[in-house]
Amino acid sequence: MNEFATDLTTDLATDLAHGLSQTPKSLSSKYFYDAAGSRLFQLIMGLPEYYPTRTELAIFTAQGAAIGAALAAGAAPGAPLLVVELGAGDGLKTKLLLRELLATARPLTYEPVDISPAALAELTAALAQELPALRTEPLAADYGAALDLLAARPEAKAVLFLGSNIGNFSPLEQAEFLRALAAPLSPADRLLVGFDLRKDPRRVQAAYDDDQGVTAAFNLNLLTRLNRELGADFDPEHWQHFPDYDPATGAMRSWLVSRRAQTVRVAALAGRAFEFSAWEAIQTETSFKFSLPQITELAAAAGLRVVATFQDEAGDFADVVLAR
Ligand code: AVJ
Repeated sequence: MNEFATDLTTDLATDLAHGLSQTPKSLSSKYFYDAAGSRLFQLIMGLPEYYPTRTELAIFTAQGAAIGAALAAGAAPGAPLLVVELGAGDGLKTKLLLRELLATARPLTYEPVDISPAALAELTAALAQELPALRTEPLAADYGAALDLLAARPEAKAVLFLGSNIGNFSPLEQAEFLRALAAPLSPADRLLVGFDLRKDPRRVQAAYDDDQGVTAAFNLNLLTRLNRELGADFDPEHWQHFPDYDPATGAMRSWLVSRRAQTVRVAALAGRAFEFSAWEAIQTETSFKFSLPQITELAAAAGLRVVATFQDEAGDFADVVLAR
C-alpha cells in the first residue's frame, strides 16, 4: 500500500461525507467515471471546443516514431518492454504509440490501468482485434494500484500518463505523484506525461463549457451517480454546471452550483442531511494548465529530468519524456 492507494481507494460514501464538510464543499473528480461518465467523457473528447485530445493525437500522429524511440531508448534492443498507462480510457491516442513500439521488434506488454471497468473492457476487445501481436493485461483500479504494480515488474518500462490527467492533482500532489511513479523505475525506464499548456483563457474556458452542454451533463452525472450508488436524493434540475478559469494560476475549476436553498439526504450515510444555501457551489474538478518552465521545475521537484519535449505547432499541448 502506498499513499496514493490509501488516498484514492477510500470509498464514495466516506469521500462524500468528507467533501461536503469542507469549505468550499468538494468531491473528487475521479468519481466522474462511472459507465455513463466514461461515455460522456468520450463525447467530450470529440467536441469542437475540447482541444486537448485532438491536439495530443496530432502530436502522436506527426511525431509518434520519435516518441516511440524516446520511450524505448533505455531498453536493450529486442528486450521485452512493459507499457503501463494510467487512466487509459479508450486508448485511442495510445494505439498510435503501441504501433510504433511494436515495429521495434521486441515483446511488448500493455497494461492499461483505468478506474472504469467498462472503458477497459472496450479497450481490451478493440486491441485484440486491431493489434493482435500485443499482449494486453488490463487492470481496473486507481492510480495507487498502478504504483504497486510497477514495483512488482522486472522488465524495462514505459509509463504513460497522458491527456493532462496530471492536471487533476494540486501542484504539491503533482510532484509527490511523479516522485512515487519514479521510485520503482530504473534509470533506463521512461515516463511520458501529457501536459495541457497555458493559452488564451477564453479557449480554455470554452473547452469546459461547450455549446452542446456535454460537459455540463458530465458534471451533473456525478449527482445521478450519488443518487444511484448511495441513495442520495439530489435533483439535478436544481443544480447547474459552472466552470471558471484563473489565468494567474492556470487552475481550470468546475463547480456544481445549487440553484436554490435545499436539503439533500443520503441513505448510505444513515439518512444524513446536507444543507445547501442558494448559489452555494461544490467543487468537482480542477484541471491545471502548465507552462514549459513549470514542467521542468515539476520534473526536478520529483527527482526526474526532461529527456525530450514534443509539442504541436501552436504550442497548445506538450508530451514530455522523463527519466530518473
Ligand atoms: C480527463 C482530467 C484530462 O481535465 O480536461 C474534461 C476531464 N473534465 N472536461 C480534463 C474533463 C471536463 C479531463 N481529464
